[in-house]
Amino acid sequence: METSETLTAIPLDVFGQAQHQENARLRALGPVALVELPGGVPAWAVTHHQALQDLLADPRVGKDPRHWSQYAEGRVPADWPLIGFVNVPGMITTDGTEHRRLRALVGQALTPRRVEVLRPRIEALAERLLAELGGDLGGEPGGEPGDSRGGEFELRAAFAYPLPMQVIGELLGLPPADQDTLHELCDTLISSSAEPGRALAAQQALFALLGSLAARKREQPGDDLTSALIAARESNDALSEQEVVATLMLTLVAGHETTLNLITNAVRALLADPALRARVTAGEVDWSAVVEETLRHDSPVGQFPLRYAIEDIAVGDVLIRRGEALLASYAAAGRDGGHFADADTFDADRGPVRHLSFGHGPHFCLGAGLARLEAETALRTLFARFPGLRLAGRAAAPTPIASFTSNSVRELWLMAG
Ligand code: HEM
Repeated sequence: METSETLTAIPLDVFGQAQHQENARLRALGPVALVELPGGVPAWAVTHHQALQDLLADPRVGKDPRHWSQYAEGRVPADWPLIGFVNVPGMITTDGTEHRRLRALVGQALTPRRVEVLRPRIEALAERLLAELGGDLGGEPGGEPGDSRGGEFELRAAFAYPLPMQVIGELLGLPPADQDTLHELCDTLISSSAEPGRALAAQQALFALLGSLAARKREQPGDDLTSALIAARESNDALSEQEVVATLMLTLVAGHETTLNLITNAVRALLADPALRARVTAGEVDWSAVVEETLRHDSPVGQFPLRYAIEDIAVGDVLIRRGEALLASYAAAGRDGGHFADADTFDADRGPVRHLSFGHGPHFCLGAGLARLEAETALRTLFARFPGLRLAGRAAAPTPIASFTSNSVRELWLMAG
């Protein structure tokens, strides 16, 4: 059997320039491939759909970094670019009972029923953003669909970012004035091109900002998730101050960048396929089919660090040793040709798509229902508002985001109409 001692780790292209080619190369090596993360840190990238599904639900795999030999032995530098995913306290770095305790509280705020209650609010926010955008482009704010004069706009900044940010902001009870600062800090945190130390500084600044939000809500509770977390009692076990802030931070980071990428990637897919776009806008294909296929074809989370083998685990002809790190390669699994026919092709007629892009097992995304609702609402309202929407000339070859976790493009310039 191959092990980390017999194989040579492949340095990973972390800047997303050619993520899909890179993923194809790794998939060809088998269900798991030994890769080198930034800073020369080794990990097993799990790139095949079935292996990823199995390992995500395998009790021999944990998320507590104390299982990671390299970390436990102090060999991961404090300014390692991905350290924010490893040492952040909260549900993404805990297992078992402790994980269930932290997760249950946020889960209560994001049940399908509570998400459904948000639908009219999300629609109103989307319509308002588009009306403002139409006004900026020369049409009448709040005017009829298609009445703008065909100006250019950047989708992410003008619409795909503010929508999930406002939704998550309202959910958490964040004042709108804090949202720009938060955007900047979140960007730095997820960007693997950030200078050493900058990601850590951003993480600390985010903690401070959310800490003051929690302090304000402790004084003056409102009808929001922050106040609910502070008030929550589970088996008489309230969340500590640090746990509240960590949970807020996780929900904030997890809840907007991902949805932003999903909306962007779906718009790209629809603009690249006029026949599909016509069928969707005519109601012949559900928006949900477009959203699910986008999730599979271009997973908003490229890869997610990290998990750790609690025992030796055999995968195919590879032995992952206890204490070694695993990387969930969601974008790679979505295009696994061994699982999905014609995997590189965007095909909204596939029928139910059982992708793993919201994760699987105990850490399955808590915001999946909300993200789906936001993305469907965003797409429906956007294409209704601008029936002649098309790519602007400068969007011919958009640049991928320089990020380890985020799979999308930096900017998407569109022409309204
Ligand atoms: C398109 C949008 C989204 C995608 C693709 C996405 C994807 C994911 C993935 C892949 C995971 C599992 C990470 C892992 O352990 O490997 C995850 C976890 C999580 N997501 Fe999402 N997410 C999205 C939106 C949201 C939203 C809107 C929220 C909250 C409002 C949210 C909250 C969370 C939380 C709290 C976790 C951690 C769950 C745990 O560790 O038990 N996500 N998400």
